[in-house]
Amino acid sequence: MTIQTVATRPFLDQKPGTSGLRKAVTVFQQPHYLENFVQAIFDTLGNVQGQTLILGGDGRYHNRPAVQTILKMAAAHGFGRVKVGQGGILSTPATSCLIRKYATCGGIILSASHNPGGPDGDFGIKFNTPNGGPAPEKITEAIYTRSRELSEYRILDAADVDLDSLGTRSLGAMTVEVVDSVLDYQALMESLFDFDRIRDLLTGPQFTMVFDGMHAVTGPYAHAILEGRLGGPAGTVIHGTPLEDFGGGHPDPNLVYAHDLVDLVFKGDDYDFGAASDGDGDRNMILGRRFFVTPSDSLAILTAQAHLVPGYRDGLAGVARSMPTSQAVDRVAAKLGIDCYETPTGWKFFGNLLDAHRITLCGEESFGTGSHHIREKDGLWAVLFWLNILAVRRLSVADLVQEHWQTYGRTFYSRHDYEAVPSDPAHTLIEQLRAKLPTLVGQRLGAYKVAYADDFSYTDPIDGSLSQNQGLRLGFTDGARLVFRLSGTGTQGATLRLYLERYDPQPAGRQDTQTVLADLIALAEQVAQIRHFTGREAPTVIT
Ligand code: G1P
Ligand code: ZN
Repeated sequence: MTIQTVATRPFLDQKPGTSGLRKAVTVFQQPHYLENFVQAIFDTLGNVQGQTLILGGDGRYHNRPAVQTILKMAAAHGFGRVKVGQGGILSTPATSCLIRKYATCGGIILSASHNPGGPDGDFGIKFNTPNGGPAPEKITEAIYTRSRELSEYRILDAADVDLDSLGTRSLGAMTVEVVDSVLDYQALMESLFDFDRIRDLLTGPQFTMVFDGMHAVTGPYAHAILEGRLGGPAGTVIHGTPLEDFGGGHPDPNLVYAHDLVDLVFKGDDYDFGAASDGDGDRNMILGRRFFVTPSDSLAILTAQAHLVPGYRDGLAGVARSMPTSQAVDRVAAKLGIDCYETPTGWKFFGNLLDAHRITLCGEESFGTGSHHIREKDGLWAVLFWLNILAVRRLSVADLVQEHWQTYGRTFYSRHDYEAVPSDPAHTLIEQLRAKLPTLVGQRLGAYKVAYADDFSYTDPIDGSLSQNQGLRLGFTDGARLVFRLSGTGTQGATLRLYLERYDPQPAGRQDTQTVLADLIALAEQVAQIRHFTGREAPTVIT
């Protein structure tokens, strides 16, 4: 086995987005494309002699060949050991868990999260730092800069490694350890939640649940924990086998893409609780019987009920939400007397706050919720958190949410996505609106008066780093908001996201969110001319 130095030319498009480098599979299949990016990561890390790396992915198409390439490159760079998930499978939260538990120099996650997979789908790669979290911008920028000047990469000339049987084997001077994808993660969950109580709930006659693995990475975790350890009957987990193309589906747990689950929970009376996770296992959707829990509300409710859960019984240091996430959690934090931080979109912005013990829980409107137990959002963790609360309270999901609204008021919230629209007009929409914002402050728009209008920027309270242009905000005097931003994870054209929010301190009965938000939707069209610039009559996805 020899170390080869392979001549290459830089690809100029290897700029990591909201969550790592994400491109079509065909882009990653170009000769040297993956190798270049991995070389840029290793060069940015510097001396990796004898270090340990965690490696795994969500099992999508191209996962296995990419794992083999990275193993051989790691061996050529002098890593001492790579812990890789069996079959190349590790969920994003499990990777974060392993990095922290084994105090490694970081990990590489192969995933394009909720984007579709298969030969015509997407692939992605992301580096996580020793705290277990996504690399912060100064590191992703350094990787990008390095990727633009590469002229060679190093790789071991060796046969592929057996990824399917557990245990250690040698690759040159490096040890490859194929680890159980679930065990360490399961132990972490067991340390946080009251498994006995959840087991009583799942095995008792009063409660039925269904979890949709969406043929993505969480299937093995959910089978082992919900059915194996917690005694949920067979069939509790559906679509639980990871497939390279996610069964042709779009592994994003929302009301549109998780339609099989939605049909089960909304059309029949068989289930009290439904949940789903995404491609790489970090997102979650929570449903009750014919009831959808908005992710922003979910974060607020977990915060309000955290004292019922063993791992959080001693109180919360603080909470954080991404800027477009609704302000529901702010009201709970105010009542608890704890800090609430507002960060830009993307999990990487929570890392410093968690490391500095400023916050215990955090979340995003995009079906992401998490805590200080790792440095990624965590889909199954959120499901277990909900189950723990329900096991204690013995209320239906709908009753628990209604109770929350009675206490804190209700935040009506929705996100409208215009996916894969032409890039230039989408950018023009943002530029024109940005230019107009200062003129809107103090003006009346319909029933609303503009309190502030700006392009959100964030100064990290821990390291002082400044992140600008994080989304256009239009805030009204009654607390209602409109937020506009372009996605940083899409791979085709541009995706415009419009976030709408309105607060009702004394909500009456069940009201339809889109109806309550109708005048804000019309206002958004009026100020931004969405139809004109996107060429679309309606959003692609409403969540
Ligand atoms: C989206 C979500 C964001 C999340 C990210 C990664 O990013 O909006 O909250 O952190 O995926 O899962 P976006 O495409 O909006 O940049
Ligand atoms: Zn994800």
